[in-house]
Amino acid sequence: MASTDTVTRPTTGNLQELARRHLWMHFTRMGAYDGVNHVPIIARGEGAYVYDEHGKRYLDGLSALFCVNAGHGRTELGEAAARQVEELDFYIIWSYAHPRAIELAERIASLTPGDLNRVFFTSGGSEAVESAIKLARAYHQRTGNPRKIKFLTREVAYHGTTMGALQATGIPALRTDFEPLVPGGMKAPNTNSYHWPEGRDPLWAADQIEEKILFEGPETVAAVILEPLQNAGGCIPPQDGYFQRVREICDRHDVLLVSDEVICAWGRLGHWFGSDRYGYVPDIITTAKALTSAYAPMGAMIASDRVYEPFAHGKESFTHGFTFGGHPVAAAVALANLDIFEREDLNGHVLRKQDEFRAMLDGLRDIPIVGDVRGDGFFHAIELVRDQETKASFTDEESEHLLRGYLSGELYRRGLICRADDRGDPVVQLAPPLISDTEQFDEIEAILRPVLTEACDRIEGGFRTEDL
Ligand SMILES: Cc1ncc(COP(=O)(O)O)c(C=O)c1O
Repeated sequence: MASTDTVTRPTTGNLQELARRHLWMHFTRMGAYDGVNHVPIIARGEGAYVYDEHGKRYLDGLSALFCVNAGHGRTELGEAAARQVEELDFYIIWSYAHPRAIELAERIASLTPGDLNRVFFTSGGSEAVESAIKLARAYHQRTGNPRKIKFLTREVAYHGTTMGALQATGIPALRTDFEPLVPGGMKAPNTNSYHWPEGRDPLWAADQIEEKILFEGPETVAAVILEPLQNAGGCIPPQDGYFQRVREICDRHDVLLVSDEVICAWGRLGHWFGSDRYGYVPDIITTAKALTSAYAPMGAMIASDRVYEPFAHGKESFTHGFTFGGHPVAAAVALANLDIFEREDLNGHVLRKQDEFRAMLDGLRDIPIVGDVRGDGFFHAIELVRDQETKASFTDEESEHLLRGYLSGELYRRGLICRADDRGDPVVQLAPPLISDTEQFDEIEAILRPVLTEACDRIEGGFRTEDL
């Protein structure tokens, strides 16, 4: 490590080398980078666009992993942070409170559905899910059901990486390195009906949740954790009536319903919360990411008055916390971010523009590998198939060629950041900043169409060895 007086700002050239030598990137095959294959270094952002270290522009079609919903380069969020540092840089919310955490908790509570009025701040999404898992167990302990310790989540769903949240995550490849996992995880099918047999009851996936609960024994099940619209597997919406049925099932068996809205809150689906969009009231909401539009790290677990009640009296407390929970700078940024949402009516904008966004994606269905187009709001995926007629998918090896060997790199090379994902069936996901409009939709189409068409040609010609 160099002493501070010898550190100089690295030039662009050696940023590449320093990144390879020192920066351990998350979920990244570090071995893929060398002197020829460069680490993509994003150096600047403005509106719906980001710029790499060479100044090349990209449409941020993923809002920096579903985070920067208000768009890049909002200096007023930096100003809010600076004002807060002048007033109070940091204080904890362990036995103390500070104005911004209080104001933000009240503001969030005013926006949540039902009586979800108790806001427990975290530093991010995994911590929010972890907190919900602990709260559900502690709640049942205190309400006379200490055997209720299991959590039901859905296949292919992603709920984070800490050990509790990882147990909830239903993606085997993310779990196997870290076994044994926290015990008590159960999985139910998700709502992806694209490959379902014809004539299946539309509420089959909801009823599967009850079957699993009955099989395990309702007296052992603490909570069901579901995203409003499931991200992993490719933007999987619920069937009409799905959440109403799940709510009934949870009530019948005294199981808490946790709505994991780390992605689906803050306008992504055109509402403050995804549960608003689909018309249900959960017992707990977990959120993070766009609460601050990611200008500062922050998450929250929001509990109903009923779930909070056993902790409200006498010597009871929820013995859980994180040093940075409710950080005043992050809370000030979140408040300023919500001001932007209200002033610019970003939720209304998504509702007004979602059909146009969807129509652009539906327009790609003439490309033979475009199988399904699904999602809601500004959160959609295209599922890629080998055969539109039979809906036959690609093998793992073909997906690897298609997504990692061609699509990811080519879309980026042409200036579009989106997600080519194979955690489930192969999909391309799009979730642009909520300020996006016709101009950005046209740009997405102008890049996606030729790249997906070229992908078809490659498949027909057999994959090339350079795709590996
Ligand atoms: C639904 C959901 N839950 C939890 C998480 C974990 O959040 P974080 O990465 O902030 O820990 C994510 C992250 O993408 C998510 O999408």
